[in-house]
Amino acid sequence: MAKYKIAWLPGDGIGNEVMEAAKIVLDRLGLDAEYIHGDIGWDCWCKEGDAFPQRTIDLLNSVDASMFGAITSKPVKEAEKELVPELQSKGHVYRSPIVRMRQLFDLYICLRPCKGYDGNSLNFKENIDIVVFRENTEDLYVGVEFNPVPEALRNTLAEVAPKTFAPFKDIPLDQYAISTKINTKKGSERIIRAAFEFAKLHGRKKVTVVHKANVVRATDGLFLEMAKTVAKDFPDIQMDHANIDAMCMWLLKNPHNYDVLVAPNLYGDIVSDLCAQMVGGLGFGCSGNIGTNLAVFEPTHGSAPKHYGTYKANPIATILAAKMMLDWLGEKEMAEKLEKAVAETIKEGKVRTYDMGGSSTTLDMANEIAGKL
Ligand code: NAI
Ligand code: MG
Repeated sequence: MAKYKIAWLPGDGIGNEVMEAAKIVLDRLGLDAEYIHGDIGWDCWCKEGDAFPQRTIDLLNSVDASMFGAITSKPVKEAEKELVPELQSKGHVYRSPIVRMRQLFDLYICLRPCKGYDGNSLNFKENIDIVVFRENTEDLYVGVEFNPVPEALRNTLAEVAPKTFAPFKDIPLDQYAISTKINTKKGSERIIRAAFEFAKLHGRKKVTVVHKANVVRATDGLFLEMAKTVAKDFPDIQMDHANIDAMCMWLLKNPHNYDVLVAPNLYGDIVSDLCAQMVGGLGFGCSGNIGTNLAVFEPTHGSAPKHYGTYKANPIATILAAKMMLDWLGEKEMAEKLEKAVAETIKEGKVRTYDMGGSSTTLDMANEIAGKL
């Protein structure tokens, strides 16, 4: 029996191509694993009315870790129209499987390392090395949303809203939409603690808390308060904090001032894309969705339908996600070897995908990296 069982979820579009590339390097590394395919994404939605079928949920419950490519998502009304005719008007509502997966398996940490490798002409500045901890289960992503808004809810909110908020008086009921931002002490505390623990374990000096507590006082205020409390348990690590808007500006101006960032779900999503772009863009952004018993590793990019079938996509993001999985499984030596091979390939610059200014294919890149293992 293999040492590890790994769920293999290519998903849609270029998810298939970059996962094929990741498999090439994992096989070359000789990871002792059984890879089990799982269905997820748009085809499942169209044919079954469920983008994340129960059999895939059962699979994730039975494995040590999972690798995920990318999925295609569409707005609810468009998604309904693409269902096979027998499933239309049967009450199927599209929800992103990745957001569902994060909640269902309580994958509360979204870990996004953003490291610039030497010689990458796409680096914004040299030696950027920022690690983003994004809360992954609550905040604006809880899925409690209304459009149209029920009258009773509107009336309740109208009673508690500041008198200066005019729309409650002036706008007809059917012209509201409400998305709720829900943050808990538990959800905030555990992601902040994870960021500090990571900083301690990896000899990092500073954790910066990203929020908008001056305006979004209840939820972000709670997040910031929890950060101040947790920071007391880590006297050797400096804590500072900044508003999300200022943070975007400071990150561009002085990226070297930042080390570990921790943020509620939405701000974490935003700053991690900004940080990913500073170290090469979507072709380099990798991500781990990590819970207590399961972790799912993925590139941060989507299914890029316009590139599907061309093998043009850069697989480095997915290969670095595989590196994160090796770290999580405790296969430190393999993880280091893989990262070194990626770094050397980038530095040499002989094999470059289109985003890096070259014309190599997804599999050329995988084979070049594999050849250095
Ligand atoms: P996307 O990330 O799929 O692609 C945007 C553009 O970035 C592409 O057209 C391409 O030019 C570039 N790009 C992406 N990955 C690349 C790679 N590996 N190498 C080189 N260039 C790359 O985002 P888009 O086009 O907004 O969304 C396409 C679909 O993906 C949508 O249905 C969206 O909902 C979904 N999506 C899924 C995600 C996931 O599975 N986690 C995340 C983001 C979007
Ligand atoms: Mg994103």
